[in-house]
Amino acid sequence: MTVREMQDEIMRLKKEKDFCILAHAYMSQDIVEVADYVSDSFALSKQATQVPQKNVLMCGVKFMAETVKILAPDKTVYVSNDEATCPMAHQMDVQLLKQMKEMYPDYAVVAYINTTAELKTLCDVCVTSSAAEKIIRNLDNENILFIPDCNLGDYISKRIPEKNIKLVQGGCPTHVRMSAKDVEKAKAKHPNAEVLVHPECVPAVVAMADYVGSTTGIMEYAKASDKKEFIIGTENSIVEHLQYDCPDKKFYPLSKDCVCHNMKLTTLTDILDCLKGEGGKEITLSEEVMVEAKRSIDKMLELG
Ligand code: 13P
Ligand code: SF4
Repeated sequence: MTVREMQDEIMRLKKEKDFCILAHAYMSQDIVEVADYVSDSFALSKQATQVPQKNVLMCGVKFMAETVKILAPDKTVYVSNDEATCPMAHQMDVQLLKQMKEMYPDYAVVAYINTTAELKTLCDVCVTSSAAEKIIRNLDNENILFIPDCNLGDYISKRIPEKNIKLVQGGCPTHVRMSAKDVEKAKAKHPNAEVLVHPECVPAVVAMADYVGSTTGIMEYAKASDKKEFIIGTENSIVEHLQYDCPDKKFYPLSKDCVCHNMKLTTLTDILDCLKGEGGKEITLSEEVMVEAKRSIDKMLELG
C-alpha cells in the first residue's frame, strides 16, 4: 500500500466506524493529514471534551490518551501505539509524591500534564506548557510544588517571582539534548533567523531565545511573524509542519537530535490497524483514578 492509499483507507474507516483522530503536533506529516484535530497538550485536552464521535484514537503518547479518557469517560478511547509513553511521565511515582506532600504540607502540588493518571490523583492542578503561567497566576496558593519538569518549572518561576515555586527533579529527555552551544552554532549559521524554543529546554537555551512557547505557540508565532527565517528548538516534526505551512519561510532545527522516539513510534500502519480492530490499545482506568485525576485536569481547564 502507498502512503496515499493508506491515508484514503483511514479516512474511509474513521467515518464508517465513527472515530475521531486526535494528534499531537509532534506526529509526522502523514499522520497530521488524516487527523481531525492537531494541536498542543492544552488544546487537545479541551478538544477531548467536545468530540462528537463515539470512539477517539489518540496519536501521541499514553498520558495524552489517558487524559482524553478522563475527560470523555463515555467514549471508547484508544492510544495508537501502546509502547509510546513519555519518559517524563514516569520520573516520579506515587510513593515519592506522597512523601513530598508530607514534607511540604502547605504547598499546592502543580503537575505538568506529562504525568500518569495515577500520579494526577495526588495533585491539586495540572498545567501544560501553554497554560502553566496563567494557571499558576490564577491559583490562590503562594507555595507551589512543581512536578516533574524542572525546566518548565524554572521558566515559570522566573515569570512569576512573587510565588514560591519549589522544583522537583525531572525533565524531558528529548529537549535537554539542546544546549547553549547549539544555539550559538545555529545563530552563527543563520544570523537573520529568530530562535523559537519550547520551555522544556534547559534554562541556558531558553535565555537565548527570541520566543518561548508550546508547540502550537511556536507555530503560531512563526506563521504570524514578518521574519523569514527561524531556528526551531523543539521536536523536529514542528520544523517539518512549519515548512509545509509556510513555504515562503525557512525553518532550521536547533539540533538534529531533538527527536522524541516515543512520539515517533506511531505510524500510519498503527492507525489503520486500530481502525480495523487489529491494533491500538483501549485505555481503561479504575473508577477511583478517573474521579480523582479528573479533579486536577478539570481545575486546569477552569484556570487556564
Ligand atoms: P505541548 O504540547 O504543551 O507543547 O508539550 C510538548 C510535549 O512535549 C508534549 O509531550
Ligand atoms: Fe515526553 Fe519530551 Fe517526548 Fe514530550 S517530547 S513526549 S515531554 S519525552
